[in-house]
Amino acid sequence: MNKGLIIAGNWKMHKTAGESAAFFQELDQLLESENYRDDLTILIFPPFTSLAAVRGITSRIEIGAQNMGAHEQGAFTGEISPLMLKDLVKYVMIGHSERRQLFGEDDSLINQKIRLTLSHGFTPMLCVGETLDERERGRTLDRIASQLDLGLAGVTPEKVQDVVIAYEPVWAIGTGKTASPEEAQEVHAAIRDILKKKSHDANKNFILYGGSVNPDNSGYLMNQPDIDGALIGGASLKIESFFDIILNSSNPVRQ
Ligand code: PGA
Repeated sequence: MNKGLIIAGNWKMHKTAGESAAFFQELDQLLESENYRDDLTILIFPPFTSLAAVRGITSRIEIGAQNMGAHEQGAFTGEISPLMLKDLVKYVMIGHSERRQLFGEDDSLINQKIRLTLSHGFTPMLCVGETLDERERGRTLDRIASQLDLGLAGVTPEKVQDVVIAYEPVWAIGTGKTASPEEAQEVHAAIRDILKKKSHDANKNFILYGGSVNPDNSGYLMNQPDIDGALIGGASLKIESFFDIILNSSNPVRQ
């Protein structure tokens, strides 16, 4: 069964509310005029301050939050709770490598957040990936397995099936270096194998690739059997490149 693809843009700390709304409007018009595959989910993770401004612009683009606090409410200055996101987004990204590396998020905090997103009905996107050092020491699969084990601990198989996994090798993020389609496929297949022990039906799990995805490499990556879409940083900030990636992934139905 073909479950489709997710093409997701991670805007990180870019774009004001006005710029975000203008992007959504422009992209919506392009999508209206083009024939792209109808099993494609287009998803954008704008900054928190743009969420209210982009909500309601179009049903063609799903919206996600780049992070979420680990509690429902309380004395947590600067944090955003699931209750605040409820009417704004469907997806919540958890454990992006920048959160792990720059903001000290560890697997146990990430697990707490994953369970909180699920208890509030969001679709979490759990990000995993190895550093360059781990890859060079042959530790890639161990690292990914441990991030999945710890990140999904205590989550029922029915709920694990709803978790989107984003595999982003840390050495490929924002560097212009991408895993080759074959290298990425190898890790994606291993992720699917790990999920077979955790998920009600691992074939239904979306496993996205991220790390320097652009219009030139996206088609090759998405042709791989276990790559169910892409998480795109830099190339999602410009409408032309993001739209090209959408069209490349839709080649079979492009007129
Ligand atoms: P990049 O970022 O596409 O700019 O490498 C990907 C990400 O961090 O999600």
